Amino acid sequence: MKILVVVLMAVTWAELSGALDNGLALTPPMGWLTWERFRCNLDCVNDPYNCISQNLLMQMAELMAEEGYLNAGYNMISLDDCWLAHERDEQGRLQPDPDRFPSGIPALANFVHGKGLKFGIYEDLGTKTCAGYPGVLGHLQTDANTFAEWGVDYIKLDGCYSSQEEMDEGYPQFGMYLNNTKRPIVYSCSWPAYQNDPNYTAIINSCNLWRNFNDIADSWTSVTTIIDHYGDNQDVLAPLAGPGHWNDPDMLIIGNFGLSYDQAKTQMAIWSILAAPLIMSVDLRDIRPEFKYILQNQRVIAIDQDPLGIQGRRFKKSGSIEFWLRPVTPVDNDNHSYAVGILNRGDSTPTKVIYATLKEKEG
Ligand code: GAL
Repeated sequence: MKILVVVLMAVTWAELSGALDNGLALTPPMGWLTWERFRCNLDCVNDPYNCISQNLLMQMAELMAEEGYLNAGYNMISLDDCWLAHERDEQGRLQPDPDRFPSGIPALANFVHGKGLKFGIYEDLGTKTCAGYPGVLGHLQTDANTFAEWGVDYIKLDGCYSSQEEMDEGYPQFGMYLNNTKRPIVYSCSWPAYQNDPNYTAIINSCNLWRNFNDIADSWTSVTTIIDHYGDNQDVLAPLAGPGHWNDPDMLIIGNFGLSYDQAKTQMAIWSILAAPLIMSVDLRDIRPEFKYILQNQRVIAIDQDPLGIQGRRFKKSGSIEFWLRPVTPVDNDNHSYAVGILNRGDSTPTKVIYATLKEKEG
């Protein structure tokens, strides 16, 4: 253990200064999002139970409140793509699909607020969303105002159908219009995920969180590819994170079809070491109890939500074994405690992740 401590001292945990300070997302956002599990399912005639609709959101909001997710910290529920109508209204304002959202978005936001949750929505900076619905380009101020009037608390702004220049100009502008509404709205950007050499100084000045990499899919390969991306690029990415501004490795897929129990624990553990937003995308109506338990594990969530907000790093990789470390509270005489994740990626024995906190002084 001595060796571990000595090398620990040499690791830089520095955070970049000059980040967005809108008072929001001081710890990584936690919530639920439609996309990975429910995609762009529009078929409310043949598949009313699973289509993107106000009913789906209302059912999930109820379960988040009643089944312990809200108490565990998941305090936001959000629509992703495919909630919009194909045309704006006569005043040029966005409107939801009238068949799937007959009560309108303000009523849905009200319902969600009544459950004690924040309400999130999806849009896209470009001319169209990734699924082809109207984007915000050319309507930035109107749309920011509309979202504030509707009671939106969190917006994911995607980057399909926009150029590099439009993104570099549009993401900060939309953020400014959101701030001008005076409504506290967490701003989730996809800006760097669409660029080869993102201007992170500008990004952390505008956004509370940002997707850096590929979409997550429901598979272990997808999870390990993402883990590798954050490990391989940690010298660039880790210093960007801090209270109010977070790297986003994408949704938790725990409880769906692609991960075993041990793999699900691994996603939860590494996301927490990474100080990642914990955004579930799972059917809460039929999730198996062991996955619910992972998602609500208070000790792991406490690591993710540690108030220091320092993103952890892959400290050592040796064959199929990886050691991940994250400095956390308590801090004692300038010495952090550490959360440690030991990840076995080999095929011969089950993946095991061990949680522990260490104090440098104790060696
Ligand atoms: C992708 C985005 C996904 C989801 C999808 C919707 O670009 O990364 O998370 O939002 O668009 O069409």
